[in-house]
Amino acid sequence: MRIFQFLVLIFFLSIYCYSKTFRISHVVSDNSPKGLAISFFKKHVEFNSKGKIKIEIYPNGVLFDDREALDALKRGIIQFAAPSFSKIADYVPEFQIYDMPYLFKSMDQIHRSYISDVSSYLKQKALVKGFVVLAFWDNGFKVITTRDKPILKPLDLKGLKIRTQGSFVINKTLELVGAKPVVKPFNVVIDLLKAGIIDGQQNTFSNIYTQGFYKYQNYMTLSRLGFLGYAFITSNKFWNSLNSKEKKLIMNALEEATAFEYRVAEEKNKDNFIRIKIHSNMKIIKMDSKMLKLWEEYFKNYYSIFYPVVGKKLIDEVLRLE
Ligand code: LMR
Repeated sequence: MRIFQFLVLIFFLSIYCYSKTFRISHVVSDNSPKGLAISFFKKHVEFNSKGKIKIEIYPNGVLFDDREALDALKRGIIQFAAPSFSKIADYVPEFQIYDMPYLFKSMDQIHRSYISDVSSYLKQKALVKGFVVLAFWDNGFKVITTRDKPILKPLDLKGLKIRTQGSFVINKTLELVGAKPVVKPFNVVIDLLKAGIIDGQQNTFSNIYTQGFYKYQNYMTLSRLGFLGYAFITSNKFWNSLNSKEKKLIMNALEEATAFEYRVAEEKNKDNFIRIKIHSNMKIIKMDSKMLKLWEEYFKNYYSIFYPVVGKKLIDEVLRLE
């Protein structure tokens, strides 16, 4: 019996000594589509590596906000991150293609872009900046919430302070209607809304629900003014330090996590929209086809402003995927 216990101890000690720990930081809750998919990824990596690889998850921005996380990735403090496309745009401006107002019409078109020349181009650009994009993940189309007035047409946003994640395309889109974009990290938005420092914000149903933004807002316009998605990334330096078996194991886990993420993003956004309606008195402003046409046409007139940042070629490529 003693020998058996000794062998068990040696077994666990050897796993402990020879195991590698990789950290992943993100800003959303564990119960969001991204949070759930990252937990899924962790479980699969740890199980398939028989404990040789451990994944430590730091959610809710407890370790870094997304911009700090990109820097931490480069410095090897964390090994994975899943920032929004808008934030990785600090390094690769063309990722703002997903922020373009009304360029993408459907989730099908978004998914087609993930496996098209659009994604190959973005991956290549990211690599030049030292990042390896391992997967493209969904959240959903964004809606606008406001405190004091309903937003029916684009110019109703005039003069309102709206929190954004801070890409050029997102900010310019709001400036085109006279709104004042307020760039702040995700995890302080709730306090800004509570204190009345901002008038509104735009995000997906899952983020609005899991962060409780709806508690401090009175109107929600189903504007779909841009898409929120994520690049699951690592640094080139870290990726090249892994052996081919480790890379394969991570990619296999990520493939399954990605399929899971697409399902859960769709389900959670549907479910969280219903929950917002149940738990709040927010007035919901739906977009009928006439309203949608008005919004689309307003912003499409300005597309050329975005050509120098996103590139006309990339925009045309996305239009071909409709
Ligand atoms: C935001 O800052 O609004 C989003 O990028 C948060 C997230 O990761 O969904």
